Amino acid sequence: MFFKNLLSTDDPRQIKDITRISESFKNIRANMMFALAGTKDECKIILFTSAEQGDGKSTTCINVAAAYADSNARVLIIDADLRRPKIARYTNTDRKATGLSDYLGGFCTLEEAIVRPEGLNFDCLFSGRVPPNPSELLMIDKVESMMKELSEKYDYIFIDTPPIGIVSETIYLTQFVTGVVVVVKKDSSHFKAVQESISLLEFAKANILGFVFNDAFDAKSKKYYYKRRRYYYYE
Ligand SMILES: Nc1ncnc2c1ncn2[C@@H]1O[C@H](COP(=O)(O)OP(=O)(O)OP(=O)(O)O)[C@@H](O)[C@H]1O
Ligand SMILES: [Mg+2]
Repeated sequence: MFFKNLLSTDDPRQIKDITRISESFKNIRANMMFALAGTKDECKIILFTSAEQGDGKSTTCINVAAAYADSNARVLIIDADLRRPKIARYTNTDRKATGLSDYLGGFCTLEEAIVRPEGLNFDCLFSGRVPPNPSELLMIDKVESMMKELSEKYDYIFIDTPPIGIVSETIYLTQFVTGVVVVVKKDSSHFKAVQESISLLEFAKANILGFVFNDAFDAKSKKYYYKRRRYYYYE
């Protein structure tokens, strides 16, 4: 299973790409399992971020969550990008669905905020209504108690966040997680921005598990009329 329009036509040759993409996410899962092996948290909480907008954080986060859920783990994905939320859209759910901001704002319980979209094998805590004050909302004590409560119910929690170089709440959230995965997009991410993001994470003493190199170009694909896009993971 994978999400979103990673493939843009219905050409039958793309079936090969579907297999390749799904294999790439399984590779990411395997590499993350190695990277997480030394950590003692029973529930592994992994935060996905990147230096800038549009690097592929949400796409990577949701597909890695799906790959873990396929291994029968109890998986939750949290859309903590309260500014440009995408997880509801990528799971074909109503974008106005109740979620994190509603829970943090006291408008619903955690149970009411968590949903299992039809056909999926993992739970979602969508962003909820876009609040006027995303940073302040995510920097309240309730976040810590929520993470504690959720970590008793799930094996893996994947958090999608805004770009680390642009907003402050992402770095704040790193204190509640087992590790951080940084998405870097080929021909799009700026070296200096990635370097600065790494410095910010190191300063916050975050455990950087590794990097996903998104949209890596396969030279052989030039002979096809569409671009192949692949996901790699490396430390
Ligand atoms: N490898 C890829 N191949 C094809 N399309 C991709 C790939 N990675 C991302 N995209 C597309 O790029 C767009 C942005 O991706 P995504 O929403 O995952 O980025 P993001 O880093 O979460 O963005 P934002 O900073 O706005 O949260 C989406 O339309 C997504 O489908
Ligand atoms: Mg996103």
